[in-house]
Amino acid sequence: MIGSVTIAVVGSGYVGLVAAVCFAEIGHNVICVDNDQRKVDALKGGDSLIHEEHLPELLNRYRNDRVTFTTDLGAATAAADAVFIAVGTPQSETGDADLSYVEAVACEIARHLDSYKVIVEKSTVPVYTNEWVRRTVERNGGNSTMFDVVSNPEFLREGTAVEDFLHPDRIVVGADTPRAAAVLQAIYKPLTDGSYYTSPNAIAGRLNQGDPSVLLLTSTKSAEIIKHASNAFLAMKISFINAVANLCEAADANVEQVAKGIGLDSRIGPKFLRPGIGYGGSCFPKDVAAFRNVADSLGVDFSLLTEVEKINAEQKRRFLRKVRAALWTLRGKRLGVLGLAFKGETDDVRESPAIDLIEMLIAEGCTICAYDPAGMDRSRVEMPETSSLTYAADAYAAADNADAILILTDWSEFSKLDLPRLKTLLRYPILLDGRNLYDPDEVAAKGLTYVSVGRPAAHPARA
Ligand code: UDX
Repeated sequence: MIGSVTIAVVGSGYVGLVAAVCFAEIGHNVICVDNDQRKVDALKGGDSLIHEEHLPELLNRYRNDRVTFTTDLGAATAAADAVFIAVGTPQSETGDADLSYVEAVACEIARHLDSYKVIVEKSTVPVYTNEWVRRTVERNGGNSTMFDVVSNPEFLREGTAVEDFLHPDRIVVGADTPRAAAVLQAIYKPLTDGSYYTSPNAIAGRLNQGDPSVLLLTSTKSAEIIKHASNAFLAMKISFINAVANLCEAADANVEQVAKGIGLDSRIGPKFLRPGIGYGGSCFPKDVAAFRNVADSLGVDFSLLTEVEKINAEQKRRFLRKVRAALWTLRGKRLGVLGLAFKGETDDVRESPAIDLIEMLIAEGCTICAYDPAGMDRSRVEMPETSSLTYAADAYAAADNADAILILTDWSEFSKLDLPRLKTLLRYPILLDGRNLYDPDEVAAKGLTYVSVGRPAAHPARA
């Protein structure tokens, strides 16, 4: 197969929508399918629905042209060479991934297999899902010679999703037939042969023509495990450094120095060693739980993952205790909170440790005035304003007359606050930083008490 491939992408969430516009960006024709008519209308009109760098630009470049939007999965399947399933796999009550959306899509695809197609799992799914998709398609009348099921997990991070897609560390393709592998190799060719990086409008990033992307070909089951194992490993790295941070606090050491010291070992690497109030978001909590359940169901003891989750949950309670220790009692205290999103540079508040902490503080009797550069609309849906929670127009309004100010999300704008101004607004000059955005001595020199994670607290010199 040479040149442009016709691709259907089912699901226009973070993964689906980013994949759709990026496939168009590397030269393919894309039909993006969603069963939510309002989403489809919004996307047709150029509203990208999520806060993601480069997405509005690519959407405007290709919408209603190389990328079309529809609710009609059947017609999209009939027209496509490859159908990417990128629907949600939410966590069920038992911690397993709920695969009912994947199943529903597989049933519908089965009814429209009029020529050979590759069905691609892009959603994060447990090992053996490809077999279930295959069985489901066959049970619903799909002829086994007319399709293959491939696993092509996505490793994009929110906030840098477009760049991650076009400049990936690796592309993993789990395919059990050469025919299916060839379709995926054709789709990703502009990234693996480097031709994409020579185009004048290419989104800039890590890779270039001389150093293009690597495509790793594996079995479908291995690819499914690679996705879960990658996320679980990164979550483990974060819990590890959080546990080390707690040890540093007990020993009066500095976790930032320790993280630097371990990260310089090239076998460990410096990334994902930032301590804080724990990981959140739509992937890590769900995927760690799902991977643990996969191991359980296969009779494998992976209790290491239970510890990862335990440390993560405890990290939030620890920070709450720090707030209490700084303020003596919590009932009736007014706190300014900076950050609602689960990490900086995104508007996503799903499984946000900041939201959990706000709820815990409110339960302790605090009144919260919160600000986030992009997450307030979504947060208002999850936590409407009440007498205990208001939203502020900026960081300084959140601090106004507060007993202390808390940083709960690592937005870059929170690392450049006007500290003397904050000090004049606060009732007590106390900054509790759950993301270690400042040098403790610098904050203390500006007249504020500074409490962070895994480092000794710093206090202003007495006058
Ligand atoms: C993650 C994976 O990185 C990505 O490969 C996968 O496809 C989806 O899940 P994302 O959820 O967008 O991406 O966020 P990420 O940047 O990985 O951060 C996850 C959480 O870990 C955030 O709450 C973040 O604040 C936290 N984190 C990250 C830390 O606490 N410390 C770190 O060093 C890194």
